[in-house]
Amino acid sequence: MGNLEYERLHENLKTLDLPRISESLDSYLEIASKKNLSTIEILDHLINEEVEHKVQKSLNFRMRIAKFPYRKTLEEFDFSFQPSIDKKTINGLAGMKFAYNAENVVFLGPPGVGKTHLAISLGLNAIKNGITTYFTSASDLIEDLKRHAHQGQLKDRLKKVARYQLLILDEIGYLPLSMDDANLFFQLVSRRYEKGSIVLTSNKPFREWDKIFGDEVVASAILDRLLHHATVVNIRGESYRIKDRRKLGLLQKEGAETRQ
Ligand SMILES: Nc1ncnc2c1ncn2[C@@H]1O[C@H](COP(=O)(O)OP(=O)(O)O)[C@@H](O)[C@H]1O
Ligand SMILES: [Mg+2]
Repeated sequence: MGNLEYERLHENLKTLDLPRISESLDSYLEIASKKNLSTIEILDHLINEEVEHKVQKSLNFRMRIAKFPYRKTLEEFDFSFQPSIDKKTINGLAGMKFAYNAENVVFLGPPGVGKTHLAISLGLNAIKNGITTYFTSASDLIEDLKRHAHQGQLKDRLKKVARYQLLILDEIGYLPLSMDDANLFFQLVSRRYEKGSIVLTSNKPFREWDKIFGDEVVASAILDRLLHHATVVNIRGESYRIKDRRKLGLLQKEGAETRQ
């Protein structure tokens, strides 16, 4: 290859935004000539590397904007500890059909039973499947919407939040909401209704949601939209943290025995 073509090739790779090919071209061409690879093998290898690079880059981007508080996967979830959860239902959700269909998922149950863990693991799966995801606690999101409303930017902010294909709202119901907060929450749920998915976690059963929102009418308007196309996972069981505490108790006992 002449100098002119070589330079033009690198320029063109830059113009087409193919940095990975540009990087590995020289060394790979050397390997290819030693191994006597065909043109098609060379092209396939270089283009495949570029595709892998781009897929990883967009995965990293989606991961950054998702703002997960921590990473927990479905594989890390011990279903035997929480028999009230139907593993098949969760595996079905992990297929992401619900997200493509703009349906919702609600995890209900007392603290420590794995609601946030499961919500995050669905979020991680979503990201791997190219679905844009945003994780936030319900109270942080309401504060954020309030701030924007104060600055006259509520519409823009709601629009932006509505653009995520999957919105994870963690911990609705830990604190009761004011009438204004409940109204903001209603606007958010309405905006996403049949357009984008919500995965929601709450420690309060639905019958107590009028207390969260301070008003029966608002609560039932929210529940109507949220539950129209939704999978509800009711978790009844012990906190996983108790398991760790038990283990600790056992260890202390054993320690005491060895000292005797
Ligand atoms: N069945 C489980 N298998 C493995 N880890 C679990 C399980 N349930 C909960 N955990 C872990 O216990 C901790 C508390 O769970 P979390 O999802 O925060 O509970 P919740 O949101 O219901 O209060 C987390 O570190 C989570 O990863
Ligand atoms: Mg939680």
